[in-house]
Amino acid sequence: MSDALLTIKDLHVRYGGRSLLGLKTKGFDAVKGANLTIRTGETLGLVGESGSGKSSIANTLLGLVPASDGRMEFDGTDLAALPSGYPPALRRKIQAVFQDPYSSLNPSMTVEQIITEPLKLHTDMSAAERRAKAAQLLELVKLPATHLPRYPSEFSGGQRQRIAIAAALALQPKLIVLDEPVSALDVSTQNQIINLLYERRDALGMSYLLIAHDLALVHHISDRIAVMYLGHIVEEGPADRVYHAPAHPYTKALLEAVPLLDPARQRARRAARRAAPAADLPRSAEAGCPYRHRCPVAMQRCHHEAPPALPVSGGGTAQCFLVDTPPVGDHSAQEAALT
Ligand SMILES: Nc1ncnc2c1ncn2[C@@H]1O[C@H](COP(=O)(O)OP(=O)(O)O)[C@@H](O)[C@H]1O
Ligand SMILES: [Mg+2]
Repeated sequence: MSDALLTIKDLHVRYGGRSLLGLKTKGFDAVKGANLTIRTGETLGLVGESGSGKSSIANTLLGLVPASDGRMEFDGTDLAALPSGYPPALRRKIQAVFQDPYSSLNPSMTVEQIITEPLKLHTDMSAAERRAKAAQLLELVKLPATHLPRYPSEFSGGQRQRIAIAAALALQPKLIVLDEPVSALDVSTQNQIINLLYERRDALGMSYLLIAHDLALVHHISDRIAVMYLGHIVEEGPADRVYHAPAHPYTKALLEAVPLLDPARQRARRAARRAAPAADLPRSAEAGCPYRHRCPVAMQRCHHEAPPALPVSGGGTAQCFLVDTPPVGDHSAQEAALT
């Protein structure tokens, strides 16, 4: 088992809430006590519906948004304790790829300029060395070096995302934060990019934080999966266990939302949905389980007591009183759940 590269402990991210012109605003808690670990060479998939706080975690990790509480230990440094703007030696170890390849690449720069920019800032390579490296990086993302003098507007969405990945790989980072990197692409291009990321990760020994809303897609390349709901990590564990035996009712609902190809299963699901009572909209969760208003199995207790992260059989944890916890004395399962 390799060492933890990143350990996030009880991370809180709050927007607003600071004294503004002497007035205190209430603020909004987008992340409410997240715990996550990424080991060297590992991919952690982070899923959840829009607004659940995924990008807030990503942006805090990248130093773009301050942590309001908690720790983010990355490669021996607590990122949460640093002032905004990481020192260059740290900055180059964490790179990012964002959702929209149309806006994340500077339209007035050539592919060569885009890829060599980080090399210019962070290394003492000569212009010739940088150009050779850029050509090599394009090959790594399966684009010909003849594209170097061209501009982002000349490429498709998938090709632009490959260029963004090449730029992220340039400094051989330890961690790449991928915030919905394929959400803007069509399905076949999504698969190509996911496969490319998978190959590169294994060849270069990097770690990924891969954010997406599609659990099935994340499952392909993740070692572990964390599921977010309204600022909480409601479930976390080995990717296969979370995907095949989800423990939290929200994870189950997310998996049911994956489009089914089998028409009979689709019909059965539609019928089940008609029979089910309409789900309430999420409300603020001052006390109690954050998912209780939408949960089909919520109990009285869930309305005034928030479930802690409980160990799940097969590894990981889920914040639900109804999880199938490993039997007492089953130390291997308990250890797997808590690592
Ligand atoms: N800069 C901001 N100021 C205020 N609220 C924000 C800001 N960024 C995000 N939020 C809010 O925080 C919540 C989580 O957002 P985000 O982290 O972007 O979620 P996700 O990436 O899962 O869609 C949302 O309710 C969003 O409206
Ligand atoms: Mg987001």
